[in-house]
Amino acid sequence: MASRKVLVTGSAGFIGYHLSKLLLAEGFRVHGYDGMTDYYDVTLKQRRHQMLLQDPGFSTTEGMLEDQALFDQVADDFAPDVIVHLAAQAGVRYSLENPRAYLDSNIIGTFNVMEAARRHKVDHLLMASTSSVYGANTDMPFTETEKADTQLTIYAATKKANESMAHSYAHLWDLPTTMFRFFTVYGPWGRPDMALFKFTKGIIDGTPIDIYNNGDMFRDFTYVEDLVRGIRLLIEAVPVRPDSPDDIEEGDSLSPAAPYRVVNVGNSDKVRLLDFVDAIEDAIGNKAQRNYMEMQMGDVPATWADATLLQRLTGYRPATDFRDGVNSFVAWYLDYYKA
Ligand SMILES: NC(=O)c1ccc[n+]([C@@H]2O[C@H](COP(=O)([O-])OP(=O)(O)OC[C@H]3O[C@@H](n4cnc5c(N)ncnc54)[C@H](O)[C@@H]3O)[C@@H](O)[C@H]2O)c1
Repeated sequence: MASRKVLVTGSAGFIGYHLSKLLLAEGFRVHGYDGMTDYYDVTLKQRRHQMLLQDPGFSTTEGMLEDQALFDQVADDFAPDVIVHLAAQAGVRYSLENPRAYLDSNIIGTFNVMEAARRHKVDHLLMASTSSVYGANTDMPFTETEKADTQLTIYAATKKANESMAHSYAHLWDLPTTMFRFFTVYGPWGRPDMALFKFTKGIIDGTPIDIYNNGDMFRDFTYVEDLVRGIRLLIEAVPVRPDSPDDIEEGDSLSPAAPYRVVNVGNSDKVRLLDFVDAIEDAIGNKAQRNYMEMQMGDVPATWADATLLQRLTGYRPATDFRDGVNSFVAWYLDYYKA
């Protein structure tokens, strides 16, 4: 049987790299599409692609999502069975400085991906949303069926808009679509703009690390290998438009009007930020210079996923203990930067 083909956007990114690696290991053919944006160190992105290119099942195009003609051409040539759309302008804090980048990448870019998915009648379109869409919600853990209308940043707002846009296309064109709500992803090859990377660098370099809200923060840290395992299994969980709303099971976010659902992909474990910092110090064997700061604009004090739906759909739930995940990250960091 011919290998199934998956078009992965954001393949040079943190999650896209790990997902592509897993799919290749499982015999899929993967085409990666990435604009190599300079939001963070482009060399890290190039290195991730170089690793993937060692597998003959991987090919790639460098291009921006906003370039609809190029993206269409790639989709025509590769003819994917499945599209996993991960490319985006990510980051909560940067969205305060440069909101327009989020509109360009996340709104226009996602629209172009949806158009290609529709034209090619892919079996399944899967796209990244975020736990940030839960915004000011305080009932925890967060469930996919609760109302999520209080986004606090333009990043979160563009992702919520993506969910809406995707629902409309799923409804209009019978395009099976799954939106993932990821919860603070971490692990080897991680993003330099995220806390784990910055804390590790600060502790190794002996420079102060900024700890927001005086450390009174909780995050549902999700290990990247668990996360991509969840994505891989969700590829097979193709949503089917229900005949009647009564057919939707309790707790399932399946739409009554479209082959569409939203799924939390999180560890379902609320970890105190200071415990996370302790784990990094232990892994490195050095103490941090802690610079306690106020809560940052647009930030939320806690996130925590209910991962019941993911488990129901796939039989799987992430389970890596954060101390083990931190150890793996630090080992990668020390090797990569030969510190
Ligand atoms: N990492 C997390 O904790 C987290 C949490 C929630 C949601 N997400 C979402 O998951 C997805 C992947 O995140 P990540 O952590 O791998 O981020 P990342 O920044 O490492 O990867 C995104 C990739 O997309 C590319 N890209 C960005 N804008 C583009 C554009 N307009 N055209 C083409 N390529 C473009 C970048 O070059 C980058 O390689 C994103 O949609 C992000 O919003 C991530």
